[in-house]
Amino acid sequence: MSLLEEIQKRRTFAIISHPDAGKTTLTEKFLLFAGAIHTAGAVKSNKIKRSTTSDFMEIEKERGISVASAVMSFEYDDLKINLLDTPGHKDFAEDTYRTLTAVDSVILVVDSVKGVEEQTEKLMNVCRMRNTPVIIFINKLDREGNDPILLLDELENKLSIKVCPLSWPISRGSSFKGVYNIHHQSLHLFVANRPLEEMGIFDIKDLSSKLLDDRIGMENAIRLRQDVELVNGVYGSFDKKQYLEGHQAPVFFGSALNNFGVKELLETFVEIAPPPCPRLTDKRMVYPEEGSFTGFVFKIHANLDLRHRDRVAFFRVCSGKFERNKFYRHTRIDSDLRFTNPASFLGQKKDVIDEAFPGDVIGLYDRGNFKIGDTLTEGEKLFFQGIPSFSPEVFKELIKTSTKVKQLDKGIKQLTDEGVAQLFELDNGRRKIVGTVGLLQFDVIQYRLANEYDAECRFEPLNFYKACWITSDDKEQFEKFLGFKAGSIGTDKNNHYVFFAESEWMLNYYKQQYPLVHFHHTSDFDKQ
Ligand code: G4P
Repeated sequence: MSLLEEIQKRRTFAIISHPDAGKTTLTEKFLLFAGAIHTAGAVKSNKIKRSTTSDFMEIEKERGISVASAVMSFEYDDLKINLLDTPGHKDFAEDTYRTLTAVDSVILVVDSVKGVEEQTEKLMNVCRMRNTPVIIFINKLDREGNDPILLLDELENKLSIKVCPLSWPISRGSSFKGVYNIHHQSLHLFVANRPLEEMGIFDIKDLSSKLLDDRIGMENAIRLRQDVELVNGVYGSFDKKQYLEGHQAPVFFGSALNNFGVKELLETFVEIAPPPCPRLTDKRMVYPEEGSFTGFVFKIHANLDLRHRDRVAFFRVCSGKFERNKFYRHTRIDSDLRFTNPASFLGQKKDVIDEAFPGDVIGLYDRGNFKIGDTLTEGEKLFFQGIPSFSPEVFKELIKTSTKVKQLDKGIKQLTDEGVAQLFELDNGRRKIVGTVGLLQFDVIQYRLANEYDAECRFEPLNFYKACWITSDDKEQFEKFLGFKAGSIGTDKNNHYVFFAESEWMLNYYKQQYPLVHFHHTSDFDKQ
């Protein structure tokens, strides 16, 4: 098969949601449809069920599970689909944000009862940064959820994206009858948790047909006719170009648990989702069909086997063909590396592979060479962009409590290279500040430092509101700010200046006082 054919065959995406909206259930149903798994319950939820932070074994167990399910590949409709898993727990949201840099599109699951939740909004903000195409699945229609029109309004308002329903629910909760597929003009009658062959699917091109009244009753039929007319009038028709540019999100309704609406979603996904897209580097755009191989690391996972300090770097192929045992240039450290055991993931199985193509995600065993965002090429000095660190929300100062200072320094450096948290330095390196998006990471860090590096530490809470990367073209104003706020300005791992704001009010105040200083919420400020 030619490189172009390999590329056209691939779809790389992630399913994202606020915890509990149904991401794991939907993933499992996709894998069942594709025949990649055969029994329900095979996909383990990788969320940390307990919200208390004391159960370290639980954390370890969860880490193990998420290694195994970091990417699931399956074949469907002659396509090779790479589904990237994202952590379920909100404290690991940054991991999810980074995974989104490695996909070409996403399916966003929204709970019809809860509507748009906090994490849904944050995830969509990240999708918007790269104009990632989004399909929305409104789940749990078997429960008494919100009015679908209100849900669509909420999606548009809170997620700042135009929506276009491609299916429409007929009632909901205990009286849920099914959906009318506006896209294919067919009626799908709901039967709880049945295989597809047993579901009633009827082609009804003309909604005024008496057949509709016979199938769903007169009252539902009248309502559906009115709804579809309204929906067509308000939301118009689906525009694939708008979807691919990330401006319009097609919406489906269903119930993942009951296997309802899932196949249509998958079928529409394979019909409209984009193949591997070009990606931006610091020098130029890299196109998948280029002959030369390139790609980047978006996730690093420590190996659970403590006897070996190796890690798995998850690597997205962006162009050309990756080959086992061939030397590639690691552009940050400027040296050539080769990989003898690169792994691919089929269903839940891990296999050594000989080659991989754009869109594929492979696991590279690593002994500490990789940081998140690292690029491999066939020699060209490039760095893929858009794999930012996000402004952390919780800050603590790392206090050494053992004499093993070297191990502690090494440990905290490696853990933060893995992306567990971000490390900043204040007071010319005398104070180490760890920033995360959730509290759970501090327990993970403390536990792993003790277990993997034999180094003890404790954390002291700090009262910062946000860390912003700061830049300016105006040397004078920048130096004035650096001098004035010296006690609250540190550096990140790349020696970029970071300002720790005490409060939202203070941050806004300094933005006004120093209009020529730019305050960035992600580390990827070159492109902003
Ligand atoms: P997540 O990965 O997004 O966190 O969500 P997950 O799939 O684990 O689903 C969260 C809960 O919602 C699960 O129940 C799941 O069974 C339920 N669920 C998913 N889809 C539907 C649906 O279409 N209708 C209804 N009524 N429920 C749905 P749980 O009790 O928390 O877990 P479990 O014990 O069933 O695994």
